[in-house]
Amino acid sequence: MALNLSTAYTGGLLPSTQESLQLTACAQRAHAALETGAGQGAGMRGWLRFPASYPRDPEYRRLLDAAAEIRAGAQVLLVIGIGGSYLGARAVIEAATSRYYNETRQASRGEALTPAIYFTGNTLSESDFADLDRLIEGRDFYINVISKSGKTLETAVAFRHFRAKLEKKYDAAGVNRRIFVTTEPVPEPGKNPGMLLKEALAHGWATFVVPKNMGGRYSVLSAVGLLPIACAGIDTAELLRGAADAQAAYAVSGETLEANPCDHYAALRYYYYKHRHRSVELFATYEPSMVMFGEWYKQLFGESEGKRGRGLFPGSVTFTTDLHSLGQYIQQGRRILFETVLSFREPANAIAVGIDPGNGDGLNYLAGKTLFEINQKAFMATALAHAKGKCPSLVLELPRRDAYNIGWLIYFMERACATSGYMIGVNPFDQDGVEQYKNFMFALLGNADYEEQRAYLRNTYHIDI
Ligand code: PA5
Repeated sequence: MALNLSTAYTGGLLPSTQESLQLTACAQRAHAALETGAGQGAGMRGWLRFPASYPRDPEYRRLLDAAAEIRAGAQVLLVIGIGGSYLGARAVIEAATSRYYNETRQASRGEALTPAIYFTGNTLSESDFADLDRLIEGRDFYINVISKSGKTLETAVAFRHFRAKLEKKYDAAGVNRRIFVTTEPVPEPGKNPGMLLKEALAHGWATFVVPKNMGGRYSVLSAVGLLPIACAGIDTAELLRGAADAQAAYAVSGETLEANPCDHYAALRYYYYKHRHRSVELFATYEPSMVMFGEWYKQLFGESEGKRGRGLFPGSVTFTTDLHSLGQYIQQGRRILFETVLSFREPANAIAVGIDPGNGDGLNYLAGKTLFEINQKAFMATALAHAKGKCPSLVLELPRRDAYNIGWLIYFMERACATSGYMIGVNPFDQDGVEQYKNFMFALLGNADYEEQRAYLRNTYHIDI
């Protein structure tokens, strides 16, 4: 099994034998509900068996061809989307390459240079739009607009803006072959497509599918994530292979919790939440290139668990960076935290500390040690210190930071999240709480369909609209 769950740094804060028996029964019930479809939101489990089947789907071949076309023609790819239509692709691109992807995407192994990839549609900041305008000026760019609903405001506004830039630069045929749309499937005859799909069909833009039975935050291994990821030159077959191997490994529920690390992780999260009154889980990594993975994790767990007044609040930290900011709170603040630490067993490089004859900085005791070794010691020291301070760490160990292992980790997290949701008694696949801000925003912006919300704002908050 690629991923190992270690409880070595929990400082002994682990379930008693009696608690373990209860947790095992609860996790096994959640496991069965997920596998059989007996749980809430069962119609949205499309992601559960997707990694093993998608490589045989004709869309996958088409997606690889589209990525090759974009890689050959584009200096820049603009990926327009938000939430589940944004975070996964960016997380994987940085995790499998580097947080400096755009600056370091050199042609390697004789392959062509991949395009710079900028993510937009995830903000309404005017400055951000202006910065991107400057970045794409004079460069050949393509667009992959991603929206399951086809009507998300942030995405639609950005698409309108950057599509207009394309239209200024190229003729109609040039524009149309530079736009790739990932959205709902083409509806059955007699049913109307949503706005984005309708536009795509009218202009002949290439389209890819966000499966109907998959929520945005569970969709990174579909075309939603895979098209931008393939454009970055990442081996998507390896990514899917890692996820498919995880799919097979975690489908089986064992006698003991330890037999299935994914269920075990869900059960230990539940234990800290329910029995140890922890309200915050911090996803911690020692790799800056995993920062966006932390952002993806926060959406996955936050939108899946945070409802009905329940759920752990998901936070993320990058160490050792944040030990110099949040470290104090983690060590001695309110005991509401536990950590889930991601650790890679093998170094990606071999950079060692040099020797300095003068030893003016006193660092010669480290000479010859690799940064990987030093980072590992920092991890051990931090986990031990936090355990001493009653902030236990669950450690997810992976061999290395490559496409296969990232694929495995994504599946592990998605499955653990769904299981956790069932354990705390919520539907891990809906997110109707997200609509509230949208309702008020559309009301404030004068959308004619939101008169009821406008009346509510007038009466309740005395807002003059
Ligand atoms: O996980 C989710 O469902 C959400 O985060 C959506 O992905 C996000 O709101 C964007 O929606 P859409 O893809 O419809 O534009």
